[in-house]
Amino acid sequence: MSDLSYFMENDDETLRLEIKTDLDNVKRQALWAGLRPGMRVADLACGPGKTTQLFHDLVQPQGSAVGIDGSANRIAHAEKTHSPNGPAFFCRNLLEPLDDIAPFDFIWVRFFLEYHKTDAFQIVKNISRLLNPGGILCLVDLDYNCLSHYGIPERMQRTISRVIHVLENKEDFDPRVGIKLYSFLYDLGFENIDVMMEPHHLIFGELGAVDEFNWTTKVEVAVKKFQFLLDEYENGYDAFYDEFKKAFSNPRRFTYTPLISCRGRRPAGG
Ligand SMILES: C[S@@+](CC[C@H](N)C(=O)[O-])C[C@H]1O[C@@H](n2cnc3c(N)ncnc32)[C@H](O)[C@@H]1O
Repeated sequence: MSDLSYFMENDDETLRLEIKTDLDNVKRQALWAGLRPGMRVADLACGPGKTTQLFHDLVQPQGSAVGIDGSANRIAHAEKTHSPNGPAFFCRNLLEPLDDIAPFDFIWVRFFLEYHKTDAFQIVKNISRLLNPGGILCLVDLDYNCLSHYGIPERMQRTISRVIHVLENKEDFDPRVGIKLYSFLYDLGFENIDVMMEPHHLIFGELGAVDEFNWTTKVEVAVKKFQFLLDEYENGYDAFYDEFKKAFSNPRRFTYTPLISCRGRRPAGG
């Protein structure tokens, strides 16, 4: 699928997602949400499929997992990397019907709604119809995505805020989708809704290799696209990039993003 509107797309995106996915955290969150052996699970926007393989393992015996993503590159990677008797993968646009692959007992949607600000509620509504009655939907996303840093130069903070603002308007990015997840499930009549909030991208002290690669790629992909926003930097992107590298590797800077997980059960008669 080549017409996917995903502004983070680049040659390293599969690798970035693979490297930054912390399976211990995902396991803890999925068990909290109610993932249990025997379930049929959908991992929507599964990226390289690392989380799908985890879910497949967690629902044994007798459960199964399906990973769906719109990137042919990431689905090919998932099919090549994960066990032949493991999850099934599909390259599909999640904005189009998926009824032929449904139904599911548990649906997991992490870091996808942030890329679909306008249609997020309608997407969740469509997804909820793929659940068996009594099935669980777990939405996981960020609030103030990329916006909470302290100890970086003020012009850099201003520039990052402007880039995010343009991404909202031009790419339908929603840096505050995390705060909306509860209302989505509430408005759809979900039962037993629960919410968990924890820090994501909590960075202080020495910069680790995973954070360095993740944030450098984000800057290279997102900021490079909007060089007209770099008017506070006399040498444009190169000057911004140098300042960013210096600021992010300074152990005094403090960065975090609130991660919000919201789970609920589709009503038996819903
Ligand atoms: C940030 S990644 C999230 C990957 C994974 N869920 C995780 O938690 O790491 C977003 C994924 O959404 C996929 N995506 C974006 N829009 C899509 C769409 N309309 N249909 C299918 N996949 C889409 C991208 O290809 C990408 O792999």
